[in-house]
Amino acid sequence: MATNRIKIFDTTLRDGEQAPGCSMTLREKLRIAKALADLNVDIIEAGFPAASPGDFDAVKAIADENRGPVICGLARCNPEDIAKVHEAVKSADKHRIHVFVATSAIHREYKLKMAKEEIIKSAVGAITMARELCDDVEFSPEDASRTELSYLAEVVSAAIEAGATTVNIPDTVGYTVPAEFDKLFRYLHEHVTGIENITLSVHCHDDLGMAVANSLAAVGAGARQVECTINGIGERAGNCSLEEVVMALKTRSEFYSLDTGIDSTRLYPTARLVSGITGMQIPRNKAIVGENAFAHEAGIHQHGMLQHASTYEIMRPEEIGISKSNLVLGKHSGRHAFRDRVRDLGFDLDDFEVNRAFQEFKKLADKKKDMYDGDIEAIIMNVDNSSTGPWTLKSLQITSGTGIDATATLELLDENGAQIRKEAVGDGPVEAAFTALEDASGIDLTLKNFELHSATVGEDAQGEATVVVEFNGQPFRGHGASQDIIEATCRAYLEVINRILRRRELGLEEIKATTDVNRATI
Ligand code: KIV
Ligand code: ZN
Repeated sequence: MATNRIKIFDTTLRDGEQAPGCSMTLREKLRIAKALADLNVDIIEAGFPAASPGDFDAVKAIADENRGPVICGLARCNPEDIAKVHEAVKSADKHRIHVFVATSAIHREYKLKMAKEEIIKSAVGAITMARELCDDVEFSPEDASRTELSYLAEVVSAAIEAGATTVNIPDTVGYTVPAEFDKLFRYLHEHVTGIENITLSVHCHDDLGMAVANSLAAVGAGARQVECTINGIGERAGNCSLEEVVMALKTRSEFYSLDTGIDSTRLYPTARLVSGITGMQIPRNKAIVGENAFAHEAGIHQHGMLQHASTYEIMRPEEIGISKSNLVLGKHSGRHAFRDRVRDLGFDLDDFEVNRAFQEFKKLADKKKDMYDGDIEAIIMNVDNSSTGPWTLKSLQITSGTGIDATATLELLDENGAQIRKEAVGDGPVEAAFTALEDASGIDLTLKNFELHSATVGEDAQGEATVVVEFNGQPFRGHGASQDIIEATCRAYLEVINRILRRRELGLEEIKATTDVNRATI
């Protein structure tokens, strides 16, 4: 189906979430799904329902909101997975079942231990079953880029005959290069009967830093769906970055003559939202959405820019939704202006949440000279996390210095007003505070990663802390913000402790499967 329209298939909530430390709560996923719908992506791959009850619930909740894009779920080639996806997505007006099985010799021999014919049989069985449940079925031969071309063409032909409406060609391990991928797509066009009747899709990983280039090569050779993630998050080095591929097609439209339906002015807010939620900082020099992407330092460049912006700028910042002035609100700003800004930043808060965030905004505005977008984002993330209890931080006192142990004294309050006070000593203030929180809650965590960064500029900026910890072999991520960096750190740690306690109360135990335990059984 060679049209001029490229479908954008966003997999931030499925492949993106598979990135270490990127797992998200249901509420966070709903927030991202709403932002993706506002961005006008064509398809949202909302998750892998068979991976865990949490994944199933999230896909179902996203489908239930039915915000416009096709809602898709991933399944291995077995009846249980397929039935689960259907159950999870069917409430959305437009829904899709995406089935996959690996096809390369390496995967056949070492992972699946299946012969070529068996794999085709399982793919055909899975697609046939999925088509009985749903008109929109996508098939992916995993590790396609390392699969023998003639066998790949055979698999794709069988998939189309069985009823697949989209066939996706993944470069699962980020191994291919643009010229080779171009050849692969052209080969399929020549050797697969019926390929003109389906949407051919591309799905690239960034292990060699070529996910966007490879996706564009596939588009040049006839692919009409690109699978990608916001900020390129995903397994290992990540996936093809949505904002990069969309802006490449837009900025070089005279070369490609292709359109996406994306509202590019939502790219920057969506990138910030995903980064805030996942705690995956956007590198300053990241194309399109990095802080430096539109900064011109060199004198000669600044001189050129003053004469005419197009001398050194190929896109305008407003095209991707960067407001000209990042200085937004002050301490005299009202609730309406605050609410509008919150919405522009991609957050969909109810009245209660806006009021809570506004109170925090006012408190901070009293202490801080200039309020930036980053301050508002940090406040919202904080309010969101701290509103989830059972424990809240009432007070924190730290003593530390050169040549002495650090001491943390903190008080926690629970929902019923009960109070607990703990004091702990550590080599530094962070260790002391973490030990006091663990003693107070009885939850013993292993810290895996700790990041601290400034939400905005200036000495009075808020510090944003992100922690990744392990509990019972499972990773948890927490986020906190405050002008006091140790308090921000404590809030991040406490968020995780609260989440574990809530899960315990509900009797939930999360088991996170991965696509690697892939065994076709149809
Ligand atoms: O990278 C990959 O091969 C995938 C498939 C499941 C599409 O994510
Ligand atoms: Zn992938």
